[in-house]
Amino acid sequence: MSTETQSPVVEKPLCFCRILCHLWCEQSFEMNPKGTLRLLRKRKPPEYLDSDRRVRSDEYIPWLCSVVGGFLGADHGNVRAFDYAIRSMPDGGAIVEIGSFLGRSTNVLAYLAMKYRKDNPFFSCDPWMFEGTERPIGGFFDAGCEAFRGYAKEVFRLNASLFSGERKPYAIEMSSSEFFQRWTDRAPVKDVFGRTVALGGPISFAYIDGAHTYEAAWQDFRGVDRHLLPGGFVLFDDSDDGGCFPKVNRLALEIAQDPSYAVVFKTPHYFFRKNDY
Ligand SMILES: C[S@@+](CC[C@H](N)C(=O)[O-])C[C@H]1O[C@@H](n2cnc3c(N)ncnc32)[C@H](O)[C@@H]1O
Repeated sequence: MSTETQSPVVEKPLCFCRILCHLWCEQSFEMNPKGTLRLLRKRKPPEYLDSDRRVRSDEYIPWLCSVVGGFLGADHGNVRAFDYAIRSMPDGGAIVEIGSFLGRSTNVLAYLAMKYRKDNPFFSCDPWMFEGTERPIGGFFDAGCEAFRGYAKEVFRLNASLFSGERKPYAIEMSSSEFFQRWTDRAPVKDVFGRTVALGGPISFAYIDGAHTYEAAWQDFRGVDRHLLPGGFVLFDDSDDGGCFPKVNRLALEIAQDPSYAVVFKTPHYFFRKNDY
């Protein structure tokens, strides 16, 4: 029998960092070009608020994100953008995810497509070649090794098969540049589940979360833009103002100036709709 006494549960006080973090995620302030923070008094657009209500009342998404490895935060604005895009995207085009890793965002996308009874075809693409692996993580683990690649791909296959069943994407092991080349060529490819499928056709929603150089993000955008239906959506992960990927942000700011696109909202990453004129 244990002789340990149970310590009482103590509510953690809201520390300054947590409040700042919350305000950042809620887009309550933004970075000025000078590097100072500016408090925003604007309200979120109705598109965000509606999806926010839906996501907050969804019991499954937080659970799914806690059991499937990956980078998407269950409470992140990106999930609001997923919800809005999946409900509002044009019929007849594909959902395309660039960068699946272990399948967390993939499974959330598939779940929302099932939840809203959307039968748009779903494709994902990942070469399972990771960035930032030039040196061991924390001086300890070599995430660039072949064993980790194999592990990540196998875990993705298990996660997508278990949680998304028949709604799992055609998951193509390829860099996005090759994927979009073959998409344009309408080439047949074999996915990681052994299914043969012809790429190509219109796109209704693309989630871009692959390589983070300017060139790669630009190529991904061009690859999507060529096929994106009017009224279709693009969400650029890691494109936030003042965030860790200034080159992806630079591209997002350029797209925001393009008259063919409008910013639906920032998650704080840029979420665009292609204008339908
Ligand atoms: C940040 S992770 C994706 C996380 C995932 N979307 C999630 O929410 O869990 C980035 C992924 O992009 C993939 N990647 C790297 N270079 C790529 C490229 N050129 N084309 C497509 N995917 C790429 C990596 O293999 C990695 O799995």
